[in-house]
Amino acid sequence: MRLEFRKLHPSFGAEAGPIDLREVHDEDALEPIREAMDRYAVVVFRKQRLSNDEQIAFATRLDGELHRKTGISVLQKNRFGDEALTDVSNVGPDGELLESDARRRLYGLANRLWHTDASFQDPRGRYSMLAALVVPEVAADTEFADMRTAYDTLPAGTKASLEGLRVHHSIAYSRQTLGFEFSEEESGRLRGAVHPLVLANPRNGRRSLYLASHASRILDRPVPDGRLLLRDLMEHATRPELVYRHSWRTGDFVIWDNRATMHRARPFEDTVHRREMRRVTTLDAGDPARVAQPA
Ligand code: OGA
Ligand code: MN
Repeated sequence: MRLEFRKLHPSFGAEAGPIDLREVHDEDALEPIREAMDRYAVVVFRKQRLSNDEQIAFATRLDGELHRKTGISVLQKNRFGDEALTDVSNVGPDGELLESDARRRLYGLANRLWHTDASFQDPRGRYSMLAALVVPEVAADTEFADMRTAYDTLPAGTKASLEGLRVHHSIAYSRQTLGFEFSEEESGRLRGAVHPLVLANPRNGRRSLYLASHASRILDRPVPDGRLLLRDLMEHATRPELVYRHSWRTGDFVIWDNRATMHRARPFEDTVHRREMRRVTTLDAGDPARVAQPA
């Protein structure tokens, strides 16, 4: 059966028709999902029931290598036994809600800044897949910004001036802007990575602005000039008309392309309401899962 998609926003984002991702194995079934990612950049799958292992296995089938050098892994060990599965919930290993001063909570609050996942690594993150296991009754939404339209709507002269610029991304930087403190040892392990400010998707040539709160400076500009330019671009890219707001339902499985979008968590009373989410992110490293199909 052909997988259908319903648009969620005029320029990006779609909801997929009924499908059980645990049963998606063949290239014939995987490739339409990759094509949808190239087209929509954010795809919402409803009513999914993947176990931790199934989520990891699906991410590997869809896109190859997984991101395991997460920022949080520098702070503490993962309770699932595999750093590929990031705990995006507000509960501790004992199943209790995190206290307001818990270090993992304070670290995770930076998800409320506009960002892309794993831009502070090389290779950077490509797809993120976030599964909602427990969703609170109050709104605890995630917003996505369309970084392709952000690029497309820049004046031609600005586009030209951005070509070739290189940006340093550091997770320590984004956390420090909120006053989160790292030990010297932790900072030493979080040196960050450099990526172009403008990316092009090799599969369809579409260009996007590659920005995040992790972006600390532009290598090719004096620091204040570079930071001001990053702020201006951030403002341009997060205008309300470029934003899709996702209201989570239990069982939602949302895949986004970190090269083509930014996202941020919206605030809610997280020391009162339980919210359990798990994420796997793939690396933007070659095309292991995309062997050319015979003509
Ligand atoms: C993430 C993330 C936002 C949210 O999982 O990468 O930023 O709303 N999540 O939980
Ligand atoms: Mn994120």
